[in-house]
Amino acid sequence: LRGDQVIVVSNREPYIHEKGKDGRVFVRRPASGLVTAVEPVMRACSGTWIAHGSGTADRKAVDRHDRVALPPGHEEYQLRRVWLSPEEEQGYYYGFANEGMWPLCHVAHVRPVFRESDWLYYKTVNQRFADAVVAEARSEDPVVLVQDYHFALLPAMVRRRLPRATILTFWHIPWPNPESFGICPWRQEILEGLLGSTIMGFHTRFHCKNFIEAVDRYLEARIEHEHSTISYKGEQTFIESYPISIEWPTRDSVSEWASPAECRRQVCELHDIPGHHRIAVGVDRFDYTKGILERLHAVERLLEKHPEWRGKFTFVQVAAPTRAALEEYQAFQQRIEQVTRRINERFSAGGREVVRLLAQHHEHEQVNRLYRAADVCLVTSLHDGMNLVCKEFVAARDDEQGVLVLSRFAGAARDMPEALIVNPYHVEEVADAIHRSLTMPPAEQRERMANLRSTVREFNVYRWAGKMLTDAARWRLRERISE
Ligand code: G6P
Repeated sequence: LRGDQVIVVSNREPYIHEKGKDGRVFVRRPASGLVTAVEPVMRACSGTWIAHGSGTADRKAVDRHDRVALPPGHEEYQLRRVWLSPEEEQGYYYGFANEGMWPLCHVAHVRPVFRESDWLYYKTVNQRFADAVVAEARSEDPVVLVQDYHFALLPAMVRRRLPRATILTFWHIPWPNPESFGICPWRQEILEGLLGSTIMGFHTRFHCKNFIEAVDRYLEARIEHEHSTISYKGEQTFIESYPISIEWPTRDSVSEWASPAECRRQVCELHDIPGHHRIAVGVDRFDYTKGILERLHAVERLLEKHPEWRGKFTFVQVAAPTRAALEEYQAFQQRIEQVTRRINERFSAGGREVVRLLAQHHEHEQVNRLYRAADVCLVTSLHDGMNLVCKEFVAARDDEQGVLVLSRFAGAARDMPEALIVNPYHVEEVADAIHRSLTMPPAEQRERMANLRSTVREFNVYRWAGKMLTDAARWRLRERISE
């Protein structure tokens, strides 16, 4: 693809310009697995990223074409911001994407809400982003990387205007089985929109299979299972799994990290945790799919079952605020706060809370310090496309210590068997896994961690992007030859 233009489309932008209380502008990185994964790729291929400008000072930071060069100070790629009206943001983002598609695709027992008005905004905003792609395209055949469930209609919209574009769509969340998907009133339009893609990627084969079955059930398409391709209305789409990952830290960045012992000291000081405590951490967006409630129940059960940990154990949960305008998220946050209070009333010792709920945004450096300070990291998603927290934790542990407890319902569980794999709904099992982590001999920790680290190091985010782009290049070559 050397010389070809790469355009990424995602809702969330990689850098958000905000106006601080003192009136000064600062830049913030959002808590988003998608951004974590796509940004290093964009830096490497210096393309154009199109995303929603959502920060209070975003308009100030752009030039007259709504563009800003990023990362700040390095200028390796261009971000083009699309501005949404409050109604568009409400209908397209909060409404259809996050009250409809998000619960539809995550089997998290939250009922999807489908409003006609949200759907209309979703269509309008998809069209606006498609227009931005066409406006940014410098040739008739750019490579367009479409990210996630916010843009199910965009691939076909771009295809209509740029028939020779190579469109790679990556779905960062799960794809449900056809019965579950079928409750969406606009299932046909969504599938048709996605089939505008040249390549349609998911994290796992299982999600590819679910998608192909949905197409089989709801569209008159021809499916070639052997080649994993779908032909629909004269166009072909290749369906493939591309497990997403993280950028493995460079030797230079690792050399700047404080030692695990020092990280521990800092974390204990910062949160007033006694030095002899064992520390478990959880790092998530404050989202009902992440299994935070189930995790709290497991911590409570651990302390019931193993009184020896009382006064010797602290659980630190980072929960970055997200989509807080939605009632479901507010109710979820309240419920978590309530359960946290209850557990703290039952088990806190010496005036110190056993559960520390940190419901604020944390910068990567702060999270990394927590990972390095922890004895165990708890990832208990009820359903997750991949989950990158578990990979970040592993990347942070160059001392090869620390135990990962990982939900079997996260895509990551398939490639990380050395973690303690749990069913997050099974409180007893998770409590036992925490206990086992806290008592695991260092040699066993080392063996497990070393294996996890070599997997994540090898299957890093450049593998993810590399495999997608290689497939795209092959596809382009085939099309050129057949012309
Ligand atoms: C998930 C989604 C991403 C999204 C992220 C943060 O990882 O797959 O598309 O960027 O959550 O959510 P937000 O709504 O804050 O962008």
